[in-house]
Amino acid sequence: MTPTTAPAATVPPGPAEPVDMAAMRADPLAFVTRMNREYGDLTSHVGDGERVYMLHRPDLARHVLKDNVANYTKANTPDDAMLRPLLGNGLLTSDGAEWARQRRLCAPAFRRTAVTTFDGIITEETRALLERWRSAAEPGSALPVEHHLTSLTLAILTRAVLGVDLGAAGEGFGRAVDAANLFMGHYVPDPDPDPQDTALRRRGYVQARSFLQLVARTVIASRRAAGGDAAGRGTLMDTMIGELDDIDLRDQVLTLIMAGHETTAKALTWTLYLLDRHPAEAALLRVELDGVLAGRTPTAADLPALPHCRRAIEEAMRLYPPVWLISRRAARADVLDGYDVPAGALVCVSQWVLHRHPDFWERPDDYVPARFTAPDLPSHLYLPFGGGERTCIGRHFALVEATLVLATLLQSADLALEPGFPVEPEALVTLRPKHGMRMTVTPR
Ligand code: HEM
Repeated sequence: MTPTTAPAATVPPGPAEPVDMAAMRADPLAFVTRMNREYGDLTSHVGDGERVYMLHRPDLARHVLKDNVANYTKANTPDDAMLRPLLGNGLLTSDGAEWARQRRLCAPAFRRTAVTTFDGIITEETRALLERWRSAAEPGSALPVEHHLTSLTLAILTRAVLGVDLGAAGEGFGRAVDAANLFMGHYVPDPDPDPQDTALRRRGYVQARSFLQLVARTVIASRRAAGGDAAGRGTLMDTMIGELDDIDLRDQVLTLIMAGHETTAKALTWTLYLLDRHPAEAALLRVELDGVLAGRTPTAADLPALPHCRRAIEEAMRLYPPVWLISRRAARADVLDGYDVPAGALVCVSQWVLHRHPDFWERPDDYVPARFTAPDLPSHLYLPFGGGERTCIGRHFALVEATLVLATLLQSADLALEPGFPVEPEALVTLRPKHGMRMTVTPR
């Protein structure tokens, strides 16, 4: 059997005793931060019966994600165990030659130039949300903005990437995605400390999974029925229908939906929150919007003229990275900073730690969008979209989408956190505000 623990002398610093995993899961962000602050940039601890290696320095992250990528796999990581039952063998979960084939297939649809053509869909859906806010909300009443942004990014993703308008089904879909995330976010390997609670969530998850799979099948059937009509011709969906069998197609559609909307919604939610807390930044942004757009709907062509919008989002993703942890397994033994990393070892990089590391950032905990004015960052320090060849395929799409949504919302409305509303980050599959984000929306 492959050993998963190295000889004592070559184990990186960390707690001597196995970690209390229940306490760790109660506050994973405090745990990863403490590991770095107490034990340094390469740490190890024993949790869930195995030694876990954590890398808290950009060059170490780069080694695993890029320079020695051939030695690090997603197979059998906790993320894999959590995601595979729902997403099967899609682009997020596959590995090796199968992954490379899928990535080649999907890549053209996500090129920087390709995603700018979605600008009309993005702003149309955002204006529809503004309209719903206008007609539904009593003036001054707070709305669950996080929830609405998740529905918005889902509608944009399915229309833009999959060529299908979910319409009213989008709401139910949003709830099913929430139930699936709740189960996966609290995923605990055996033995389960609270089987009853898990059983409840599992039931919700199984129902949600059936529903999500039904929606994926409906999306596929509706694109097939359209038979490559003008609106959908040449889209990623049509390419995939031509190349993949039914199961692979379903996995890929679910993967793109699950990977491609909640993350962007979280980035937007945290941006709106931070702008509310930093009125001077919000004011800068409004001057930019009014000057560049003068009230008209933004297009992709406006993006280069909206740097404040873009930086507001980039800095929000630094402080609150929607994906806060990346994990891999070493295929073969490796050496990091002189320490042995045995074959089979679980190796993690946390964006939460890297993005707030005091050795690499000035005022690491402050919201300072201007730091992205001429970013000359060390490679693999800022990893909202991951790094190396497994970097997020949707990153250009996400940035175009988030910038246009933010511009469209803020040119027409002022959003303010409900007074006294508690905001704290919770690290589930994504980094979300634990209690949601209730904000009042006032037309400008
Ligand atoms: C702000 C929004 C987003 C964030 C923060 C984000 C973050 C990430 C990260 C960190 C990874 C790498 C995970 C790893 O290395 O283990 C990733 C991969 C991925 N993302 Fe995103 N993502 C976002 C938006 C999107 C969108 C819009 C899509 C699709 C439309 C998408 C689809 C994917 C896929 C398919 C992968 C797997 C790529 C591969 O392994 O080849 N993401 N994302």
